[in-house]
Amino acid sequence: MRIYYIPHITLIPNDDQYLMTNPYDEIPYLSHAFSDSHPDRLATMATIFGMRPANIQHCSVLELGCASGGNIMPMAEQLPHSTFTGIDYSQVQIDQGQDRIDELGLTNITLTNMDIMDLDDNFGMFDYIIAHGVYSWVPKNIKEKVMEVCARHLNPQGVAYVSYNVYPGWHLFGIVRDIMLYGAKDHTLPADRLEHARKALELVTESVSTDTPYGKLLFDKWNSIKSEQDYYLFHEFLEEDNNPVYFHEFVAHASQQNLQFLCDLGTSVTELSELTSNQQDLLHASASNTIEIEQHMDFINNRTLRKTLLCHQEIQLDRENLANQIMNLHVRSQAKPESTPVNVNSAETITFKSPVGRISTNNPLIKSILVQLVEGSPATHPVAEILKYSEPATHQDCTPTSGKVIPDETREVLQFLYEFDSSGHIEFSTQPSLYATRAPDKPEVTRLNRLQARKGEPVFNLRHRRIPLTEFQAFILQLLDGKTDHAMIHAVLLKHARNGYLTLKNDKTGIITTDPDGIDSNLSAMITNTLDYFTNMALLR
Ligand SMILES: C[S@@+](CC[C@H](N)C(=O)[O-])C[C@H]1O[C@@H](n2cnc3c(N)ncnc32)[C@H](O)[C@@H]1O
Repeated sequence: MRIYYIPHITLIPNDDQYLMTNPYDEIPYLSHAFSDSHPDRLATMATIFGMRPANIQHCSVLELGCASGGNIMPMAEQLPHSTFTGIDYSQVQIDQGQDRIDELGLTNITLTNMDIMDLDDNFGMFDYIIAHGVYSWVPKNIKEKVMEVCARHLNPQGVAYVSYNVYPGWHLFGIVRDIMLYGAKDHTLPADRLEHARKALELVTESVSTDTPYGKLLFDKWNSIKSEQDYYLFHEFLEEDNNPVYFHEFVAHASQQNLQFLCDLGTSVTELSELTSNQQDLLHASASNTIEIEQHMDFINNRTLRKTLLCHQEIQLDRENLANQIMNLHVRSQAKPESTPVNVNSAETITFKSPVGRISTNNPLIKSILVQLVEGSPATHPVAEILKYSEPATHQDCTPTSGKVIPDETREVLQFLYEFDSSGHIEFSTQPSLYATRAPDKPEVTRLNRLQARKGEPVFNLRHRRIPLTEFQAFILQLLDGKTDHAMIHAVLLKHARNGYLTLKNDKTGIITTDPDGIDSNLSAMITNTLDYFTNMALLR
């Protein structure tokens, strides 16, 4: 059997008849939230580089290739005064998304089954345009159109987010893809193609000598993807189109449409500062501007994926005065000092541990800021306020004095904070906390979260990040509709215990309690701990 292609449509032989089948109808994409594409992230980066992006509370967002809308749906529930439009050419995925929108009763989101190629000037203008997982996964004409849409449908201060596979990293993944395509070549049905593709790659990686650079590379690449789910492997490696580009080619394409590079979200600016001074000298001798530096960093880091933000070419970006713009933002952090108390003014170096790693500093102002942020966690605080509160502890003027000049020391520290934000130790935002920072008497989570917990799906918080939940936590989450207080949660759980549906297992001793009275005496503390966890994880509204 053979597989025939017409542009982005697969023809699959079926009982001697050829049925037109969209691969995304055959194996729908698991559609979920991507925190980097959230309008607040886009607005924050745009603000840092001197733009005046639309307020995310009243903005318009377009997502191209939205699958079943899993990325923009939580945004729509969180930002009810903003509007969200998703388009995708897979009818199956759009139908799945529409069912969920109906179930949630959302009125500010529209999913439309259409080809990106059919999008014309009547489609309207948007403050934020997202194309995640589309640009390098489609034929050339659609790639052109994606860029054109980002230019023609973006408001003057709008920001477009485009993710795409890049070289040089994809040269190596390209070998993996070639092996998989070869394994699948005699098969037509997606499940068969995937099975034979996996087998071919297993055969090669099991047989190749890992003593050779080639063998080691293949083995490492296969290890990094082998536990990925079928839908991902199929669309990432077995699609007809997967056309990575070099970063500089992407930027050149953007500029043909009068778009310019704003910044990248997949890369960390700390990578640059981690180079030795000799390496930095070599880099600056070869690279004369931001684009060339970024391209060299891709070569150095063997990058495979980029998440690039673009804006209109006419905008005068300000890459020199980040501190001035950062002063207008809000900031949060979960970085905890490894030793306490922290003496801000001593010369002692303190290490702070955040979910993404460690940072060490002896700078009094940075120490003071991080201590305040962890004490105020999970709330987001105005940067200017945090600096003001640091003045007594650091014995220095941290905020602009007369004439609005930011003190040099503060300017330097804000540059460090920008690097910490890029590496994920702290997080800037254009908004005060978009979630409850203390559990109210009757806690509430989004309807989408309750639905996700009920269906056993991954749950994403109000910062668009996946939050791991135990069965117990997922059960409580479903009850949090803003009308249920601690006592009511307790009563529901006790009823389940009496009916034999709830048992408790002590994680330390392994002892299982089935007796309802025994369960009852533990419940109150467990509910409190769970609600605290939800608060810290930014799940409560
Ligand atoms: C790799 S998936 C990414 C889905 C989603 N953005 C995500 O990242 O989870 C690519 C998506 O683009 C859609 N797509 C591909 N070509 C398209 C076209 N010409 N018009 C509209 N949608 C398209 C596919 O149906 C699919 O849902």
